[in-house]
Amino acid sequence: MNENLQKIEKSALMEIETTETQKELERIKVKYLGRKGMLNQILRSLKDLSLEERRQIGPQAQKIKKILEEKINLKFKTLTIASTEQQKFLDVTRPGKKISFGHLHPLSKIEEEIRQIFIALNFSVVEGPEIETEYYNFDALNIPPNHPARDAWDTFWLRSNQKEQLTIDKKQLTQSQMSNVKGQKLLLRTHTSPMQIHYMETHQPPFQIIVPGRVFRYEATDASHETNFSQVEGLMVGENVSLANFKFIVEKFLQKLFGEKIDFALRPSYYPFVEPGVDVYMKWQGGWLEVAGAGMVHPHVFKAVGYNPYQWQGFAFGFGLNRLAMIKYKIPDIRLFYSGDLRFIGQF
Ligand code: DAH
Repeated sequence: MNENLQKIEKSALMEIETTETQKELERIKVKYLGRKGMLNQILRSLKDLSLEERRQIGPQAQKIKKILEEKINLKFKTLTIASTEQQKFLDVTRPGKKISFGHLHPLSKIEEEIRQIFIALNFSVVEGPEIETEYYNFDALNIPPNHPARDAWDTFWLRSNQKEQLTIDKKQLTQSQMSNVKGQKLLLRTHTSPMQIHYMETHQPPFQIIVPGRVFRYEATDASHETNFSQVEGLMVGENVSLANFKFIVEKFLQKLFGEKIDFALRPSYYPFVEPGVDVYMKWQGGWLEVAGAGMVHPHVFKAVGYNPYQWQGFAFGFGLNRLAMIKYKIPDIRLFYSGDLRFIGQF
């Protein structure tokens, strides 16, 4: 027994001495000093021994236990110091850790770029509500109820108990304009064009504005159609504004966004709120992609906001922001924007 104790002490001291990690030391502590450790096993078996043996072995085992405890504590301290020293040492040749930063969504990125381009062209940037009344989204834009053109904008209509959510600043409106809001059917705006009306109701020409914003369409999706996308509306009104001015602005805008060498085309088109109306096309994947509708503001629209159509003229346009982003970043499918797929988002 005596010899046995000595052996235990010797091997324990040896193990403590040679260990290099705290984890290993922890294991040694359990092995020798733990509740079921070697020393406690011996102490527990004392009861089976003669009184004499007990007198001899008991104190000896206690003594060894104490020695080992002290040694282990000491070793713990040395190892802790060693490991912090190691952390302080900076090895500049080790490969670094890759840190991933958050960044803007491609749509936010291109919107910001477009804002800056138009600000440089002396346009103001304004925004409007996403929930609109039927009047602003349709009637005031020369699209009366039952007009077949309404079919071009498949609409998400809202239930009347959602009226409170209308965010138009009513304080700015005159009484007759108030009737354009009160009791009106609500919808999610199908385009940013209603903001033309809001702006003209509260401002006098000459001015030039753009209106970036989200719009909603209740329609089937495909590679170039989404139920939820973004537009940038533009409106310039003055006494001598012409379609030639529009062409100049569009060309400058597209050149700043895509570079000097761009392929774009204007084709005749129809929108009730312009006359004449045009569509802007750009080269995309070997074909032409419509990127905007535009035209000269229709006299009916000016009348709706109380402007004299014989005095004022203006052009208006509405760009599809997603489509511009698709061309700029070579994105093959519009549905990727809101897919939430990090493999897509991570590329920007
Ligand atoms: N609002 C139209 C649409 O969403 C686009 C558009 C066409 C806007 C002609 C305009 C415009 O300002 O003059 O389809």
